[in-house]
Amino acid sequence: MQVVILESPEAVAEYGAHIFIRHLQKKPQAVLGLATGSTPVALYQKLIQANQQGDISFQDVTTYNLDEYLGLAGDHPQSYRYFMNQQLFDHIDINKANTFVPPGSASNPILACDEYEQMIEQSGGIDIQLLGIGRNGHIGFNEPSSGLLSRTRVKTLTQATIDDNARFFSADEYQPHLSITMGIGTIQDSQQVVLLATGSGKADAIYRTVEGPMSASCPASALQMHQNAVIVIDEEAAAQLEHKEFYKHIERENQTLLAQLGY
Ligand code: F6R
Repeated sequence: MQVVILESPEAVAEYGAHIFIRHLQKKPQAVLGLATGSTPVALYQKLIQANQQGDISFQDVTTYNLDEYLGLAGDHPQSYRYFMNQQLFDHIDINKANTFVPPGSASNPILACDEYEQMIEQSGGIDIQLLGIGRNGHIGFNEPSSGLLSRTRVKTLTQATIDDNARFFSADEYQPHLSITMGIGTIQDSQQVVLLATGSGKADAIYRTVEGPMSASCPASALQMHQNAVIVIDEEAAAQLEHKEFYKHIERENQTLLAQLGY
């Protein structure tokens, strides 16, 4: 795992966006895995800006989102499809027909999960998967106890996640407690994973992800087995890491090497 510790949430978004921008410049037909939640919003703003300045194009890009609430159609303001349109797709030159979010209103969600897996495979797999992390260590909606080799499936949300996400729903609004989510195995198949986390509320989850044992009780810890996982965090989210200074040292060495090689 590459652990990158930065001063501020702004720097985290900048670093993460840079990875996507560089990749899109090299591979305009990229397949991107995307996330919702509050963490990636600043990164999406930077991608929008880069697109509007003409630095990158999304015309040939395909996207797959991690998850969706089961029971919410894409035009529901709390659905993740709606979120993606608002936060990214409506502002870039992407063909929306090439943007995929698990279908929360599928008549047969079990079948829809298998189809989602097949679609990802037919697109050639995901080049870079963006992730946030829940305070309980979830990635996508893979809650603690999720199988570390799991595939896209219907998943029950924990009360902790329902409570964390209640802020997006008004008091009288129906809040789903089921989801469709890519599995941990699906995420692990991506060529690269970029996990962003900011704020002290994520410090324990980040500690368990990076330095804890690999365990289904912290689903993100499965990334310890990924060939190319980059964990980009601010100082607050890094607060509980025992080897913080070592990770900073490695990053400085990496940057020096990349500069020498002209990257
Ligand atoms: C959303 C998702 C979730 C969030 C996580 C953190 O698509 O996959 O795992 O990344 O719940 O959410 P925020 O960023 O709101 O703290």
